[in-house]
Amino acid sequence: MAEMEKKPVIIDCDTGVDDALALLLCLKRLDVVGITAVGGNVGLAATQRNTRFVVETAGRMDVPVYAGYDRPMLVPLQDASEVHGAGGLGKVQVPEPKKPLEKQHAVDFLIDTYMARDDVTLITLAPLTNIAHALLKEPKLAKRIPEILCMGGSTVGGNATPAAEFNIFVDPEAAKIVFESGIPIRMVGLNLTRQQVVTREMGEKIAAIQNPAAQLAAQLCGDRNGKPGRDSFCDACAVMWLVEPSVITKSAKMHVTIETKGEFTRGMTVCDTRPFRANRPEVDIEREWLFEPLPKGKEPNVEVALELDQAKFDQALLAVMEEYSQS
Ligand code: RIB
Ligand code: CA
Repeated sequence: MAEMEKKPVIIDCDTGVDDALALLLCLKRLDVVGITAVGGNVGLAATQRNTRFVVETAGRMDVPVYAGYDRPMLVPLQDASEVHGAGGLGKVQVPEPKKPLEKQHAVDFLIDTYMARDDVTLITLAPLTNIAHALLKEPKLAKRIPEILCMGGSTVGGNATPAAEFNIFVDPEAAKIVFESGIPIRMVGLNLTRQQVVTREMGEKIAAIQNPAAQLAAQLCGDRNGKPGRDSFCDACAVMWLVEPSVITKSAKMHVTIETKGEFTRGMTVCDTRPFRANRPEVDIEREWLFEPLPKGKEPNVEVALELDQAKFDQALLAVMEEYSQS
């Protein structure tokens, strides 16, 4: 794909295992204007280092990496080091990258970029702390960010808690600011990502591809294989909506808001699926709207991914890893 045809994006991430695989997909297939790191899976010192390591491994020293906030807006960081390992990339040994960190704060990079151009899709693979701070510091961004592709939330319950998905759970206040900003959002939640599984043979197929990016991807896949319930690469599923759109086979627009107060539901994405609930899950959303347009304030504000094609996901992942041998 010619460089000028690639879609310009900024990626906000908390580089852990699945963020790393997502970054490798984006760095090959999209025009990555810049990457911002935030505290999430592990602390910011590790997430920004891991991000620089992945960018270097992808051979993209031209892509700038910025550090943002290390902790959520109101509460201390509850990380996911039990899933991603203390360093964030599982068993992958991460040397200090040669790729330097930019001096500018991530929030200021976001503001400067979006005040200068309005054609850059914002991909969020982490708690939404950086994005919320950027919107508060420069409210004009709500009209200048054309779209957010967000890995976060769920229509079927959480992973961090029974109700809340990790990226939203870590910073619900930030998520509420972003989801109520009016910016068009495409949401890839756990209801979608649970459909994607990294098999051992996939890891072996990738390991057979001899280039640094594929070798890193094979280590990342190897790290996740066989851990029941932890096989999906959530962030890689999300970016596939831009890298290989045919991977997402069904979506629906619905009203989504963020619970910030619930004793047991804080961080839940409250997705209004009432119009789509048929009498069997496999025919959901095939029905006409069951209700008159919902009361004011309940208009659909998010397009939610509902179904993924696993074979197309695997095909795209292998294709991109092969393409790293051609560059
Ligand atoms: O719930 C999955 C999300 O939380 C992914 O972005 C993963 O990297 C973690 O940040
Ligand atoms: Ca992430």
